Amino acid sequence: MVNHQNGACRLVILISGRGSNMQTIVDTIARENLPAQVCAVVSNRADAAGLEWAADRGIETRTVPHRDYASRQDFDAALAAVIDEYQPNYVLLAGFMRVLTPGFVERYEGRLINIHPSLLPSFPGLHTHQQALVDGVQWHGCTIHFVTAKLDHGPIVAQGIVPVLETDDPDALAARLLTVEHRMYAQVVRWLAEGRVSLDDDQRVRVAGVATRAFLPDGALLGQHSKEQA
Ligand code: GAR
Repeated sequence: MVNHQNGACRLVILISGRGSNMQTIVDTIARENLPAQVCAVVSNRADAAGLEWAADRGIETRTVPHRDYASRQDFDAALAAVIDEYQPNYVLLAGFMRVLTPGFVERYEGRLINIHPSLLPSFPGLHTHQQALVDGVQWHGCTIHFVTAKLDHGPIVAQGIVPVLETDDPDALAARLLTVEHRMYAQVVRWLAEGRVSLDDDQRVRVAGVATRAFLPDGALLGQHSKEQA
């Protein structure tokens, strides 16, 4: 468990594009006055739309263009140097589309969290909605997990599901899932802000006072009514 009792839970959010998950996190913290602070939004792409959105709200934004670096190690070292300026309790990946080196992952062990648009361990990597349609699964989903050196793998914090419809194409399926992603990431940030999330030695996640971290197609946490959440 990360101790941030001396103040708000410090977050750095990494994005590569639109940043809708990041926006939900920022809005949730502000609306609910959570004991958390987004110290910076960092992108590997200067044209990431989410950077402008964050800057408009007075959040510090930084760009570390991956193309400026000769190797993944060099890029990750530069990225880490920027992140460390903000001394975050957690680094949240929210649509950050770069594979991170084992050294980077190790540096933030237990503090690096990702959202992936599939029910891991199914469909790691890219084009997850297409993969789900090709395989004919009837439930698709999203996973928030601690990041480990193995791509799209690691202790699971929460998972959410949506049905796959006969008429779906990848975009329709992605859009249905995105609403669950937002609700789920907002809830995980509440738990992080409240200092309730722990990663035990057995590599299992526990959230104090929470019996299930399964999110339903309307974004509600299993066992809770929708209106109890944002
Ligand atoms: C989200 O669907 C997220 O799960 C996915 O990218 C999208 C970003 O949307 N992440 C990955 O695919 C990571 N491998 P957003 O920028 O609007 O939050």
